[in-house]
Amino acid sequence: MNIREDVSLATHSTMRLGGKARYLAEAGSDTELQEIVNWAKERQLKFIIIGQGSNIVWRDEGFDGLVIVNNIPGKEIVAEDETSATVILGGGENWDEAVAWAVSKDLSGIEFLSLIPGTVGAAPVQNIGAYGAELADTLKEVGVYDTQNDCFESILNESCKFSYRSSRFKSSDKGRYMITHVVLRLNKSRPAPPFYDALQAYLDEHGVTDFTPANIREAVIAIRSSKLPDWRTVANNGSFFTNPIISQSRFDELKSQHPDIKGWPAGKGKVKIAAGWLVENAGFKGVHDEDTGMATWEKQALVLVNEHARSTADLLAFRQKIIFKVDELFGVVLEQEPELLP
Ligand code: EPU
Repeated sequence: MNIREDVSLATHSTMRLGGKARYLAEAGSDTELQEIVNWAKERQLKFIIIGQGSNIVWRDEGFDGLVIVNNIPGKEIVAEDETSATVILGGGENWDEAVAWAVSKDLSGIEFLSLIPGTVGAAPVQNIGAYGAELADTLKEVGVYDTQNDCFESILNESCKFSYRSSRFKSSDKGRYMITHVVLRLNKSRPAPPFYDALQAYLDEHGVTDFTPANIREAVIAIRSSKLPDWRTVANNGSFFTNPIISQSRFDELKSQHPDIKGWPAGKGKVKIAAGWLVENAGFKGVHDEDTGMATWEKQALVLVNEHARSTADLLAFRQKIIFKVDELFGVVLEQEPELLP
């Protein structure tokens, strides 16, 4: 157990902003995680577990407790039948490397989620999704360490309260469970159409008719790389706002005023609208804001980029400018997607 003191949190967020953590430790196994948590409990310190910080905005005041970085490894096929394979992935594994591994075994189900930044352990928290798929579609159970009862257990998919970009780990049980591994059920059959529009368009354009997991992965990587900035070179947290879900009647009203607004059915009487469209049409696509050093990506307005912001306060000020303008013009209040911590 190696506990470091006074560690910059900016290096633990792909937005590269925020204060310091009083303590930080890396957990490489279940037992080490338990030891670290107990160390914090003995000292009555608050604790938080993180992955690679791809979906975290740290406040400038930092965290007066212990940040635990999940480094628990593992990629293994544990059961197989004619049609499917059950795999266990360690919470500290890089998500995209895990996808590449599954695809290399010709297993299908998570290839649509290629190139999503972050770790396996963070994936269920916000039920990561892209190109018409979400983690909940293949997830069987989540292995957790229950910090309240100091024990390890498994939580079945049905009990995870998954919804669009959410789960019990982000809502009712926030902070209680630490995800040590996930169990996925992947298919030996191929991914089948209908595919998400942008994906189908790419497949048509490139004459891809052989829908193998590897071909789908390649297409998703090409689309994502062309639209989204690489966090290694451009500081960002991916989509900064969730796509708002509004009533059908409110959507019809907006559509009559703005015929090209984008929306998709989201259950009975509800419509999910494209936050990217709202941000772009509020005049914020490819904007470089001098006051705050923040920007929106020129190819996808939903992605906020830290160009030379001095602090999280700058980021939040820029966020407010966007929320205010979108609300003023369209009467929709955008909600932040990355988690603001602590
Ligand atoms: N749009 C605009 N202007 C923009 C961006 C988008 O008008 O600047 C409109 C377009 O009309 C487009 C529609 O919005 O048809 C949807 O855009 P896109 O297909 O790029 O998807 P998104 O809804 O903006 C979501 C996820 C992404 C995920 C993509 C692809 C959320 C908040 N975001 O974005 O996830 O990669 O779909 O499936 O649900 C992330 O969570 O970090 C993320 C990148």
